[in-house]
Amino acid sequence: MNIQEMQSKILKLKKENDICILAHSYQRREIVEIADFTGDSYALAKKAQTVENKTVIMCGVRFMAETVKILSPEKNVILSNSDAGCPMAEQMDVELIEELKASNKEYAVVAYINTTAELKTICDVCVTSSSAVKIVSSMPENNILFIPDINLGTYIKNQLPNKNIKLVHGGCPTHAKITVNEAKKAVKAHPDAELLVHPECLPEVAELADYIGSTSGIMEYAKKSTKKEFIIGTENSIAEHLQYECPDKRFYPMSKDLVCNNMKLTTLADVLLCCQGTGGEEIVMDENMRLKAKRCIDKMIEYGG
Ligand code: 13P
Ligand code: SF4
Repeated sequence: MNIQEMQSKILKLKKENDICILAHSYQRREIVEIADFTGDSYALAKKAQTVENKTVIMCGVRFMAETVKILSPEKNVILSNSDAGCPMAEQMDVELIEELKASNKEYAVVAYINTTAELKTICDVCVTSSSAVKIVSSMPENNILFIPDINLGTYIKNQLPNKNIKLVHGGCPTHAKITVNEAKKAVKAHPDAELLVHPECLPEVAELADYIGSTSGIMEYAKKSTKKEFIIGTENSIAEHLQYECPDKRFYPMSKDLVCNNMKLTTLADVLLCCQGTGGEEIVMDENMRLKAKRCIDKMIEYGG
């Protein structure tokens, strides 16, 4: 079977079996093409609330499928490839955060959405990269303990100097490994290009950027800009998708190492197996845990709008 034949089969099965396919923007091109909805983590979480289909296949990583289940418990939620996790989401456990909470009683705990459902049960508010600054600035609390991404945390702290934000060391191994020298090398190689960077990158890299934002933010910025060339400082699939969407512009990856192996794990063949009912992993969640984890996602949507 070739790619087109497989895509046609998926589109047919999707209709017959009342399936909605949600894909994060880091997914492979051939998956984005057959998805019902593609976006950043905030857009996917919001979409999860309104999906009407019986089954949702999440092409992304585990915390994204968990978020769909938390918001739509009546749905059959399938993670497209059960090995696709986000290493950052696994970096901190409940014991560590309980300890931090005990020694920082006057702090509200704000968690990046890239955390496990279990961890969300003991956090106060969730944020995504596109909504973080708006949400933290809307919170009545002044003392914030932000977990687990120190780079996103530093970005929020710089934007909101009036808040007292305490950070914990964690982050995305893919974005954080790109050095300032690599970023400078890309800028030197493409002097006419604008540098667009995800806030999960090191602060020294973000400092060089013309724009800092989420995956969707970067895409929107590049599409609207009158500039013709862009260096993309996030997972390399964003440069690829943009090149398809704006063929008259040029998109260069900031580094060839900006590849999230977990996001790239899902193949079109995995999606076909999910549509046939023989692939992926159904997300099953204890109802008590779901309700507790839902509180901080509800707060995110309340503050984030
Ligand atoms: P976005 O919220 O920008 O989609 O980011 C999710 C993510 O995992 C980035 O590495
Ligand atoms: Fe997690 Fe980083 Fe991959 Fe995003 S790019 S899913 S934060 S490992």
